[in-house]
Amino acid sequence: MQYPEYRPRRLRKNELMRRLVRETQLSVDDLIYPLFVIEGTKVKKPIASMPGNFQLSIDYLVEEVKQTRDLGIPAVLLFGIPDRKDEMATGAFVKQGIIQKAIRAIKKSVPDILVVTDVCLCEYTSHGHCGMLEGDEVDNDATIEVLAETALSHADAGADMVAPSAMMDGQVCAIREVLDEKGFEQIPIMAYAAKYASAFYGPFRDAAESAPQFGDRKSYQMDPANGDEAIREVTLDVGEGADIIMVKPALPYLDIIGRTREEFDLPVAAYSVSGEFSMIKAAANMGWLDERQAMMEATTAIKRAGADIIITYFARDIAGIIG
Ligand code: PBG
Repeated sequence: MQYPEYRPRRLRKNELMRRLVRETQLSVDDLIYPLFVIEGTKVKKPIASMPGNFQLSIDYLVEEVKQTRDLGIPAVLLFGIPDRKDEMATGAFVKQGIIQKAIRAIKKSVPDILVVTDVCLCEYTSHGHCGMLEGDEVDNDATIEVLAETALSHADAGADMVAPSAMMDGQVCAIREVLDEKGFEQIPIMAYAAKYASAFYGPFRDAAESAPQFGDRKSYQMDPANGDEAIREVTLDVGEGADIIMVKPALPYLDIIGRTREEFDLPVAAYSVSGEFSMIKAAANMGWLDERQAMMEATTAIKRAGADIIITYFARDIAGIIG
């Protein structure tokens, strides 16, 4: 059937008609809101490159988590900024670490929201790499043991789900084994399965104070040019016991989200990263685009591509609109 018989514009005539045939709906239920926690009290330090986001001490963090819960958002994703960093990433797994304390505080005051934790070492190592160094290289197998210990410490503090993001081979397997061994077989793993070495993490590294002190992350995070490799990475994580598989970043990798959705029968998460947020904010501040429309369009596109879960710094703004 061709023009003039079929006229697609008939179904775009007005908003009611468009609503009727709209294929993709964002839901508050899909959203995870990331938060940054730091030592101290009454600290709310703005992150310059991410307007509206803050490094929060635990007292303020709990308040933000309450507001997030009140908006109906089901989960927060926590990142910790420790007081001290060392070669061994000690702050990542100790009982009195910043994340461990934050989890306990949230669980005590806001029991009705899921606490998901990023499991990585870059915020805790003095050199800023995501694992243990051997010379100038990140030692894979030494690192996965520390990641497993870190995930266990999060579960022990009360985390509802752990999200390993270091891109070490075998990290999901190592974490699953130790969680099962210690009685946390009911704690799911959301695996950063296809995580690219991306320039779009720039603002996050300010937020989490986690930029590598030398070199880059290209020997462990994926080459942005590769798509088939993402499928191999996801296949491995599924085999190792991942419960949710994540693609990150989101907007420049919609094809990877789509392929992952098609090829795997597990919930797919997409992380719309700091740079995706900041570039919309910055352009909007310049008056170059409409922030609200750009935010909704970008996030809807991520869902349309196949994401079941979207981690986004816009989560609260979106919930305010659709909630
Ligand atoms: C690693 C981690 C990073 C992000 C999430 N987890 C940074 C990195 O790999 O360099 C980036 C998130 C974002 O940019 O919003 N701990």
